Amino acid sequence: MSQDSSKARDGFTSSFGVLAATLGSAVGLGNIWMFPYLTGSSGGAGFLLVYLAATLLVGLPVMISEIMLGRHAKADAVTTMIKLAPRRQPWWLVSAFGVLAAFLIMSFYTEVAGWVFAYVFKAIGGGLLSTDPKVTSAAFDSMVGDPVQSLVWQWVVLVVIGGILLMGVSKGIEAVTKKLMPLLFLLLLILSVRSMLLPGSSAGLAFLFKPDFAKINAQVVLSAMGLAFFKLSIGMGTMMTYGSYFRDDQNVPVTTFRVMSADLFVSLLAGIAIFPAVFAFGFEPGAGPKLLFITIPAVFANMPLGNVFMVAFFLLASIAAIGAMLSLLEVPVSVMSERFGWGRPVTTVINLLLLALLGSGCALSASLTANVKLFGMNQFDLFDFVSTKLLMPIGGIALCLFVGWVWGEQRFRTALSNNGALANEKLLGVLFLVVRYVSPVLILAVMLKGLNVFG
Ligand code: PHE
Repeated sequence: MSQDSSKARDGFTSSFGVLAATLGSAVGLGNIWMFPYLTGSSGGAGFLLVYLAATLLVGLPVMISEIMLGRHAKADAVTTMIKLAPRRQPWWLVSAFGVLAAFLIMSFYTEVAGWVFAYVFKAIGGGLLSTDPKVTSAAFDSMVGDPVQSLVWQWVVLVVIGGILLMGVSKGIEAVTKKLMPLLFLLLLILSVRSMLLPGSSAGLAFLFKPDFAKINAQVVLSAMGLAFFKLSIGMGTMMTYGSYFRDDQNVPVTTFRVMSADLFVSLLAGIAIFPAVFAFGFEPGAGPKLLFITIPAVFANMPLGNVFMVAFFLLASIAAIGAMLSLLEVPVSVMSERFGWGRPVTTVINLLLLALLGSGCALSASLTANVKLFGMNQFDLFDFVSTKLLMPIGGIALCLFVGWVWGEQRFRTALSNNGALANEKLLGVLFLVVRYVSPVLILAVMLKGLNVFG
């Protein structure tokens, strides 16, 4: 519970602030790193189509529901579920697993963010520019294989995020994302225009926008669904926490739709900034997770003023990562500071220390702990698997079941119409049916398929 109930709870203060912070959470390495490499390795436009369907049928309804619950209860994620669930039903476990997921995701996310931060400085120094992917690949391997560099960059990331969170919700998260999001759009626009103007760029655009239906298979559907969850930061308490900072007059369905569309736009722009350039210089789009760190520097090395564009690119990726990490860490920070009443500064420091400890195994997974494996995965891959393939989908299903079957249609309608102030009955009727029947079944089917349950 709030330690001092006479003091108003911190929250987002303006509509633009709500949008910037929520979009800041959604936009992240998911758009700039995963979306391009997954699209690249899953055959392009076909993947994009499936991803779009997953976003609309599952992502959007779950995100609206999650924000709604948070805004209704106005509390951290664990307290929200305790407040809203009937007595003696342990729905708060959904949020507890969310806190766990936030830690696991932060552990590997801070490492990738560390590489991105490092690349800004390396790009400024000019050390990354080579048109030969073998050279850029060696540069990347030597960085991730160096335990000191890996750890130090992860700590830099943690300190930046911790510093912003210490300033609070409105003065920290909201104020920072309000400045960073416009900058992100500006950089992204410049880079995509640059990429499209390259001779031979049309092959990249065709790859991104002309679907080849033969390439859509179960694996593609699975990756697309996973990405939709990860991208929209749902199924693990982040959107519930941010929803609790929403204002009461905010139109939740409309705001969520805007965030989803803007997030999709950022992914598309990232694809436009990357693929036309990749094709123009004759590189392979299917390089996988290393696309960003190996192919991209080689692509920029081929352009006039490539160095400047490369700095812009990694700066933009860093900005995206910061907004996402703020929202990830805010989940445990708000639970501990509000529920346990420990105060924000102490809580933030405890969380940073915990993450430095837990995350080091991920940071070192290309060096010292490379051979430490569980179920055949190193810590980085294991944390990624458990959080994105298990905890997030299970959290998503649980949320749908809670909203669709426990919370119920009446409350759903009241909460999302702002007590009837918004005339959106028809929309809410359809949305409720999707949350109750369609989304949970789809998530379950895709998750089980992904775990190879059907053989
Ligand atoms: N949505 C973020 C991204 O795309 C990642 C994220 C996941 C953030 C879960 C918060 C919660 O990078």
